[in-house]
Amino acid sequence: MTDVSDRTPETLVTDALGRVAAATTSGELDALDTEVLGRRSALATAKSGLAKLAPEERRAEGRALNDARARIESALAERRGELVAAEGQARDRDERLDLTEVVPTRRRGHLHLVTQARDHLEDVFVGMGYTVAEGPEAETDWYNFEALNFPAGHPARDMYDTFYLDMGASESTLLRTHTSPVQIRVMEAGEPPIYSVMPGRCYRLDTPDASHLPVFHQIEGLVVDRGITMGDLAGTLDAFTEAYFGKGFRSRLRPSYFPFTEPSAEFDITCVFCVGAGCRTCGRTGWLELGGCGMVHPNVFLAVGYDPEVWSGFAFGFGIDRLVMMRHGIDDIRELASPDIRILQQF
Ligand code: FA5
Repeated sequence: MTDVSDRTPETLVTDALGRVAAATTSGELDALDTEVLGRRSALATAKSGLAKLAPEERRAEGRALNDARARIESALAERRGELVAAEGQARDRDERLDLTEVVPTRRRGHLHLVTQARDHLEDVFVGMGYTVAEGPEAETDWYNFEALNFPAGHPARDMYDTFYLDMGASESTLLRTHTSPVQIRVMEAGEPPIYSVMPGRCYRLDTPDASHLPVFHQIEGLVVDRGITMGDLAGTLDAFTEAYFGKGFRSRLRPSYFPFTEPSAEFDITCVFCVGAGCRTCGRTGWLELGGCGMVHPNVFLAVGYDPEVWSGFAFGFGIDRLVMMRHGIDDIRELASPDIRILQQF
């Protein structure tokens, strides 16, 4: 700051008015107000110097200083009025809603096809009176194999190329190869009657190709009640096929083998590409294989402490990714795991 001791009231006013006129915001003006009128201002310093003057001189100088203060105050007030008004107008302009403005809508994503199918499947089964249950993806040998009637060394274990986890005793912990272990967990946790579906991710050391992924999804179904028959299983799969794929779609059973069901079957559905007429995709049979099923094996009931003389039931399981391929005509399952967003954007 310049030395103010030799500044006359007139120069103080000239200096202050110049700066007031140059202020461009009300905030700047507030700071200037403190600087030119406040306790540490040149004006205040000049005022405290009055005491040293002779009485006559003091009176004249005091009046001049008061006059200077009044002129600065009025200049500040006037400029504040102008700036506040201009700032208000600018704010109104900025905040005005322009109804003619075209705001591009944000592109919304959607659930992955497999998630959409899983939700749809859950809805269909819930509509048929089923509950939905989930189980862990990292399982023990007991749940994935042993309790499902695959004892150690059972040749059917070779059907499932398993990822073992480096936890506990060798080959005791694994990534589940199917959703069937959730059957065991549901039966352990509850009491019959059971009508439940169990969707989830599964893992197999399968080399990726057009119909295999090492990480895929299945949905399991389990019914345990009194007097359940293979006819109930066939009827349920048929009802599901029509509810999911629509009128004209049927299911059929073919004999097969799983250690945890007896008898066991593969179930096929009407080919979605030719609707039963026979085409290249279905090998001219008019049918596409969807999954496995069968009547719950008595050893499975014994593993969870259910009396097989009292209870009977059926189970089924199928691949959700394969179902999505059928429904949307995707000829390579690897597309579903592709990071290329353009593939998923089509659906
Ligand atoms: C099973 O996994 C049995 N747990 C099914 C079952 C449940 C039978 C209840 C009896 C009672 P499978 O290994 O066939 O069965 O597999 C069933 C379905 O999973 C297959 O039909 C296929 O749709 C799907 N799947 C199996 N491996 C893969 C894979 N690597 N990639 C994609 N889908 C697969």
